[in-house]
Amino acid sequence: MCGIVGYIGKRDTAPLLLEGLQRLEYRGYDSAGIAVQSRTGGLRTAKAKGRVRELESRLPKRFAGTAGIAHTRWATHGVPSDANAHPHVDPTGKVAVVHNGIIDNAAALRAALEAEGVALASETDTEVLAHLIADAHQDQHTLEGAVQKALSRVEGTYGIAVLHADFPDRIVVARNGSPVVLGIGEREMFVASDVAALVSHTRQVVTLDDGEMATIKADDYRTYTTEGSRTSTTPETVEWAAESYDMGGHDTYMHKEIAEQADAVDRVLRGRIDDRFATVHLGGLNLDARAARGVRRVKILGCGSAYHAGMIGAQLIEELARMPADAEPASEFRYRNPVVDPDTLYLAVSQSGETYDTLAAVQELKRKGARVLGVVNVVGSAIARETDGGVYVHAGPEVCVVSTKCFTNTAVALGLLALHLGRIRDLSVADGKRIIAGLRRLPAQITEVLRNEAAIEKLAADYASARSMLFVGRVRGYPVAREASLKLKEVSYIHAEAYPASELKHGPLALIEPAVPTVAIMPDDDLLDKNSATLEEIKARQGSILAVAHQEQQKADHTIVVPRNEPELDPILLGIPLQLLAYHTALSLGRDIDKPRNLAKSVTVE
Ligand code: F6R
Repeated sequence: MCGIVGYIGKRDTAPLLLEGLQRLEYRGYDSAGIAVQSRTGGLRTAKAKGRVRELESRLPKRFAGTAGIAHTRWATHGVPSDANAHPHVDPTGKVAVVHNGIIDNAAALRAALEAEGVALASETDTEVLAHLIADAHQDQHTLEGAVQKALSRVEGTYGIAVLHADFPDRIVVARNGSPVVLGIGEREMFVASDVAALVSHTRQVVTLDDGEMATIKADDYRTYTTEGSRTSTTPETVEWAAESYDMGGHDTYMHKEIAEQADAVDRVLRGRIDDRFATVHLGGLNLDARAARGVRRVKILGCGSAYHAGMIGAQLIEELARMPADAEPASEFRYRNPVVDPDTLYLAVSQSGETYDTLAAVQELKRKGARVLGVVNVVGSAIARETDGGVYVHAGPEVCVVSTKCFTNTAVALGLLALHLGRIRDLSVADGKRIIAGLRRLPAQITEVLRNEAAIEKLAADYASARSMLFVGRVRGYPVAREASLKLKEVSYIHAEAYPASELKHGPLALIEPAVPTVAIMPDDDLLDKNSATLEEIKARQGSILAVAHQEQQKADHTIVVPRNEPELDPILLGIPLQLLAYHTALSLGRDIDKPRNLAKSVTVE
């Protein structure tokens, strides 16, 4: 949600920054801008409403510089417009700032500036920072001191990068609640919200902590706190090569990421299973057998798809570890003053590890002394750092705004955790082996499901004209229905709702008509008869039905048949064809699949 990138070194800045912005566009794409230290002195800025390519087409021919900062925006304060795009500059044009986050006291700071007679050029919260830094520079001799002084007046979250015309040899950056990563090159330095923007230039990175700042120069960097004390950092090597961030021959990242799922699941399982004892080894969990035995319930927190994966995980934990478990949207949890129970194990689930609501829920839990573990994809992300331990889901970089492979891998990672807890408690070796065999079958079965793509594409052409769609399932099928409904609506913009199948007759049945098809998730479990009865009720009202099932469903208009696994693991496979359904429906409607309107990946605001 907003991406920042910066470069200082010998190479020409603008092309590098534009490339970085393209890589960060998943974080926001309603406007973009760039500022460089021009070779002849002073700053030059260019901004444009719209995508990065719009900015690129508007960039003046002569835009050379050896230091620069850039931004791609997801609007919070102020509509998408040229004026509201970052970088924001002070009236003298000497200070330029890019910012990811929200300044909570922006209204008060704007009012104070206006009372002093300052004319603000935008409606954003960020602009005040440029003014505050310029103001602070009058009595601070260094840029670092001016930024520190300005930040001391700011409440909220930020990842910022600052250029100053009087300090052409440096970029000053700071982090509080929004990610900032430094990339260390050969006599050049990068800064970005995400390694995606710099990994094609260097894999040596330093991730700043909250409350930390850095000054980067072409051949040097130093880190310190916002109070000015030096901090020490050790560069780390980024796990993923630059190619992992490319489209790899697919037309969209969504398609690539759906197609990668067999490999991704193989990765989350690799090296974690001991077949002899049917046990699981989760190195970073930080929960020994004694502590695990002391857990009386599990509460899973996440947002959107992460929440849905958590719902699947909660069912797996109840089934395999026979322990009460449930999932709740992290945002709801943090605002309802939850009772925090010392015997409950809390799991924070997040692809990005940045989602503000989930992070805030973790912080609230920690304040109350709870044990919180993370189930996270991005290594070293805020939630991964803030939690007491956890499980990485190893899905690899997920670039499409819409989550697919990470959803699947998270469900599998929670399956491993359920198995682990189960084997410490009551799950027998035989049942443990049965689940392990099922987990190991998943990659091949995912490949089998994906082979059905041509048939699903044909179905999608029919559903593209739907006015609205219902997704229903019972128990294991319900989280699948929820996730499939979210996928369809966010990528195709067709309205979709998910219900437990049993709830249809309590109201939603009123919606059924030929233009409102239903997708029914119906695994071959002991609820199959009940699900068949639901199909009858829909048919009796002229509704059309697509079933996702383990065998052809006579009462449905179409069935997508999915291979059987162990019943507990069925939800993981049942959702995969519906990712393809959402994808092809959106494609036939000409949607912007990787960047759906109004959305951004990594929701770092409330
Ligand atoms: C849906 C989607 C979102 C995210 C949600 C949480 O396709 O991607 O619903 O799942 O914003 O994001 P993370 O997992 O990064 O915390």
